[in-house]
Amino acid sequence: MSYNLLKGKKGIIFGALDSNSIAWKTAERVHEEGGTFVLTNAPVAMRMGQINELAEKTGSQIIPADATSLEDLQNLVDKSMEILGGKIDFVLHSIGMSINVRKGKHYTDQNYDWTQKGTDVSAMSFHKLMQTLYKSDAMNEWGSIVALTYMAAQRVFPDYNDMADNKAYLESIARSFGYFFGVDKKVRVNTISQSPTPTTAGSGVKGFDGFIAYAEKMSPLGNATALDCANYTVAMFSDLTKRVTLQNLYNDGGFSNMGVSDAVMKTFMGEE
Ligand code: NAI
Repeated sequence: MSYNLLKGKKGIIFGALDSNSIAWKTAERVHEEGGTFVLTNAPVAMRMGQINELAEKTGSQIIPADATSLEDLQNLVDKSMEILGGKIDFVLHSIGMSINVRKGKHYTDQNYDWTQKGTDVSAMSFHKLMQTLYKSDAMNEWGSIVALTYMAAQRVFPDYNDMADNKAYLESIARSFGYFFGVDKKVRVNTISQSPTPTTAGSGVKGFDGFIAYAEKMSPLGNATALDCANYTVAMFSDLTKRVTLQNLYNDGGFSNMGVSDAVMKTFMGEE
């Protein structure tokens, strides 16, 4: 269903790799709500080619950018304003990557070159992106910037590895930069903390299937899907959330406030 919540709004969406990506679903929903945007991803992800299908479907242009490169980000911001015909109202940072996770390197045995690369891609890229937008004065007043995160930033999930630290850093950047963006430009900055979701990045975490089933049983409303996340992001980009800023917003079916659920207890009582 469409409510025209983003009619006339212009933005940039990072991170649509394939149709499972949270950013892919978000782009579809933003389009349905009347928003126009530029799609971007790392040049290496572009080579897989699927993003073209999304661009066609949503009438969007694609600008490749490695989110760790200030040069690429500046080019992206400048070109996006040209294409969209003015300043930007919304930005989605939907980027995460850990080489330690990908290569099965244990948290207690990290390869720090990989750790640094993961931190740059998953967290510092958010600062670089916001600094580029801020210095270029590229955001309209009452614009909205959202990054996606996971609760391993607050609680221990051993197999989430160094991504837990990256997410803690990402969330802190949202608050710290959000202050300056709020005071100086009237722009809000938030993170959405999403349930485990079957995507390329998500499924890379060791034991993901068990993990997602556990979260499903723990959450009173069940796991939030990629579409649920897209809908929440649409709300955060809309004028209905103008003074929500510096927040880490859980979209997790209630998981983050649970201790234990009956469904999980049953598996320990031999009833299931
Ligand atoms: P995904 O694998 O579809 O998306 C990750 C994206 O990051 C890909 O499009 C990839 O090309 C992009 N990326 C990687 N390196 C990049 C770089 N240097 N420059 C630009 N883009 C780069 O997976 P998903 O799950 O949609 O991930 C989106 C966000 O959601 C990530 O921040 C992830 O940590 C977060 N998230 C995912 C959860 C899950 O269980 N899938 C749960 C909570 C948060």
